[in-house]
Amino acid sequence: MIKVGIVGASGYTGLELVKMLLNHPGFELSYLATTTGNTTIEALHPSLVDVVTLPVEEADAVRVAESCELVFLALPHKASMGFARKLMEYGTKIVDLSADYRLELETYEKYYCEHEDTEHLDEAAYGLIEYYRDEIKQASLVAGPGCYPTATLLGILPFIPYIDTSAPLFVDAKSGVSGAGKKLSETTHFVTVNDNIFAYNALKHRHEPEIAEKIEKMYGAKMNVNFVPHLIPATRGELVSVYATLKQDIDPLEILKKHYADDRFIRIREKPVDIKSTAGTHFCDIYAASSGNALFVNSAIDNLLRGASSQALVAANLMCGYDEGMGIPTIAYVP
Ligand SMILES: NC(=O)c1ccc[n+]([C@@H]2O[C@H](COP(=O)([O-])OP(=O)(O)OC[C@H]3O[C@@H](n4cnc5c(N)ncnc54)[C@H](OP(=O)(O)O)[C@@H]3O)[C@@H](O)[C@H]2O)c1
Repeated sequence: MIKVGIVGASGYTGLELVKMLLNHPGFELSYLATTTGNTTIEALHPSLVDVVTLPVEEADAVRVAESCELVFLALPHKASMGFARKLMEYGTKIVDLSADYRLELETYEKYYCEHEDTEHLDEAAYGLIEYYRDEIKQASLVAGPGCYPTATLLGILPFIPYIDTSAPLFVDAKSGVSGAGKKLSETTHFVTVNDNIFAYNALKHRHEPEIAEKIEKMYGAKMNVNFVPHLIPATRGELVSVYATLKQDIDPLEILKKHYADDRFIRIREKPVDIKSTAGTHFCDIYAASSGNALFVNSAIDNLLRGASSQALVAANLMCGYDEGMGIPTIAYVP
């Protein structure tokens, strides 16, 4: 058993990691931490009472290094790089769920803040599993992709060779409220969200440059990505609709089936996808259709799992030489 830890165990993605790691046949959960610690995991998450009892410490890089071979940083950006920078010196493997190691330095500093660990930025593998498996297997530091970029990129990347990359790409995305983390704000207040749907950060969300940067890195195409997220009255789940301009006639479903033939956690659907069929799982469901030169690509994921914690766990599996599906959830919360 390989000893692993979670820093940020009181948060939403931290809890998803705890739940999967408790049943993981190759990892032993040996360190849990939050900002202040001095508690237990079942005190933080009452759903775990009589299931498990584990101490939660005040986060400390030396204790992480002493206790684990690999750690998940389920922290806000900036806090993550503070830990990662120290942990890299101890040789602890890291899967970071924040934005700190996802982007090129210039893009990161434009959209987030000054980077405090430029030394290790280039060493990070981007954790979009289907496209970076080989890099992840060799990496000591993996940057978990953003939830919206995960759903968007998995949907649109197979079509980049067939679309007019000089035409704008329009991404309409919808997310459940857990995407914003556990901290309450006016936007995520029950009264604001219930029976409601609205766009936020239209054309200026931080995930827009992440999507554009990865398309450019993978295909050399500098695309004009127009990204508009919406909040929906659901706890978890993300639905993305991408609109692009085709430069040739294609059979979209055939392209998807061929592209992902060896990827067991991508399901190509014959009709538009929905969030509930992927909730509680690592699956990304994708559907696509075309009419004339218009292409519609539709993808759905669970933002807390494929968009964060299960994608991080698959990365950890690969970094430790395990099968990528080890301990990964596949049964959806349906009905
Ligand atoms: N939610 C999603 O769907 C999603 C998807 C993809 C990526 N992400 C990313 O994953 C990360 C975690 O997201 P989340 O939704 O789980 O957030 P969250 O619910 O707000 O949890 C954040 C956690 O970080 C802890 N924390 C903050 N600063 C800390 C510090 N200096 N030392 C130790 N612990 C600290 C908090 O602990 P305290 O309780 O002590 O404050 C809390 O447990 C974020 O970077 C987020 O952008 C989230």
